Amino acid sequence: MLFADRISHTYPNGVQALREFSLQVARGQFVAIVGPSGCGKSTLLRIIAGLLQPSAGAVWLDGARITQPSPRIGLMFQDAALLPWRTVEQNIRLPLELGSKASRQSSHHGHPSLASSIAPLIQLVGLSGFERAYPRELSGGMAQRVALARALITQPPVLLLDEPFGALDAMTRENLTASVESILRATGTTAIMVTHSITEAVFLADQVVVCSPRPGSVVGSVPITLPRPRTWAMESWPEFGALVGRARELLGRTAPVV
Ligand SMILES: Nc1ncnc2c1ncn2[C@@H]1O[C@H](COP(=O)(O)OP(=O)(O)O)[C@@H](O)[C@H]1O
Ligand SMILES: [Mg+2]
Repeated sequence: MLFADRISHTYPNGVQALREFSLQVARGQFVAIVGPSGCGKSTLLRIIAGLLQPSAGAVWLDGARITQPSPRIGLMFQDAALLPWRTVEQNIRLPLELGSKASRQSSHHGHPSLASSIAPLIQLVGLSGFERAYPRELSGGMAQRVALARALITQPPVLLLDEPFGALDAMTRENLTASVESILRATGTTAIMVTHSITEAVFLADQVVVCSPRPGSVVGSVPITLPRPRTWAMESWPEFGALVGRARELLGRTAPVV
């Protein structure tokens, strides 16, 4: 479904961030990318999102080349970046308003079908009762739940997550990770997530892809065979530990020789 074909990228200042990074993601699959800081993970996600043109290589989504941002690809970052003057519900709705700007001139009636579709999503991400709260009233984890709902409101077939739990405390992080697993399973969304946490990668993914130091390329990948739904109780399973070990070993191999 999504195919990143030998993506290379060199920034104008001469820094080569990626070298022939290839990634194939099947529909509904969850791929986690782990790798050393600065290996080009965020660069890769920006290229897949169509926000940045690669120096070489191409990204294909269902056979069409991605060259610009598309409503078919949702994004979630470490910083929820909510608009402080808008409520939870208004923040989640934002992409609908932006997307309908062009077609709004002909209609003053809004989008009743979209209005009714927001309640199940708010429930799905666990924000029922907080629809009218403002960002300043939310914890970090709740703000990220808003960001997730905002990313999913247009029902994108693909969701890109760049260290979405990086700024959260450990307990909130575990809760949110488990929520994301069940939410993406419920929506059937295809996902690519960058994370620093191997444990989190194994918990969420169907496949953990390990990236080399800069310029980033694929060192290897670990298929995750754990059943779904995933639960944190699985962390103590020998199989879970073995998978974490295999990913860590691949990462270790990428450690630069000093
Ligand atoms: N806009 C930019 N201009 C120049 N260099 C950049 C830019 N963005 C990132 N880089 C460099 O590219 C490399 C990869 O960055 P990044 O994709 O953010 O890595 P990661 O997300 O894996 O930490 C780093 O060395 C970083 O300093
Ligand atoms: Mg990054």
